[in-house]
Amino acid sequence: MTPVGRTRLTAQAPAKVNLTLAVVGRRDDGYHALESVFARIGLYDELSVEPLAPWEAPEVDGDELSVEGPLAYEPMKDDLVLRATTALRRQAPPSVPRLRFRLTKRIPAAAGLGGGSSDAAAALLLAALAWDVEVDQGALLALAARVGSDVPFFASALRVAMVRGRGESLASLGSPAATLGVLAVTPAARLSTEDVFAALAMLRDRRPSEAAAVTARLADLMAAGAQPPAIVALAPRMREANDLWPAALRVLPGLAAMRFELEQTLMRPFLMSGSGPTLFALYASPAEAAVAAQRLGRELPPSLQGAAIHTADLPATR
Ligand code: C5P
Repeated sequence: MTPVGRTRLTAQAPAKVNLTLAVVGRRDDGYHALESVFARIGLYDELSVEPLAPWEAPEVDGDELSVEGPLAYEPMKDDLVLRATTALRRQAPPSVPRLRFRLTKRIPAAAGLGGGSSDAAAALLLAALAWDVEVDQGALLALAARVGSDVPFFASALRVAMVRGRGESLASLGSPAATLGVLAVTPAARLSTEDVFAALAMLRDRRPSEAAAVTARLADLMAAGAQPPAIVALAPRMREANDLWPAALRVLPGLAAMRFELEQTLMRPFLMSGSGPTLFALYASPAEAAVAAQRLGRELPPSLQGAAIHTADLPATR
């Protein structure tokens, strides 16, 4: 039986890339302090929700999540979608119904694209709507930060942001003057964020990096609403401005050869997003990125067999 008037709410959950990522220190709570330029891109999961009547799905304890789509997986009880919902439930009246979520998964997981965090942020927004709970922006971001470091960015409305601290400090950077194209290549191997940060903590002789300086330069460009070619021209420096790269190589040494072969094939710098292993190149237009993706599909280097290739917009305006 379906209650009369039951509504299903749906949200798109976008992926992100980190255009730069500077590790600027270690915090008292053990996390690393970051300065990173995050940009939403046009590659989406889709999350929908409907309230469950008390008599529905009695075998399910709490909220329910099913996952479909090209990258469907068997969700566990600690899935970020369910954790986010549980966190919000603590601030909702006890009478609010259990929720049934359906996730269509397209963003590769454990890939540095923020897919799980974006799903969690979408769950927070959808649950707040389904339960009709008002959460002010500050409380929402604090809740999001407890769910995961990248969740506040997705819970905010920001397109391109300077993200600081553990991810809880956000400042808008505006957006480019016209839409860029992104070609993202996710190797078949996955990387756990926790493993990459643990490897970073073990690295000795860390060379001083330029990541913070490049981050500041990029922030200036974005704030000025730069044209795509000016942003693409900074890509060789952005390539060197992810402080997690040496740590990611410790966990997945083959990533260096993958990047080399990609760059040889397309004659473009490839940047690593977040803690990897997704590698991506920036193009001055979506059309150029599409041409490059076709070429890569035809000339896929041996090290990248099994990799997922996506093109996505890095959009100019809302
Ligand atoms: O917050 P999140 O669950 O995404 O982080 C996963 C792990 O990565 C953390 O448990 C922590 O070990 C590490 N991490 C870190 N510094 C950050 C973000 C994550 O050390 N800024």
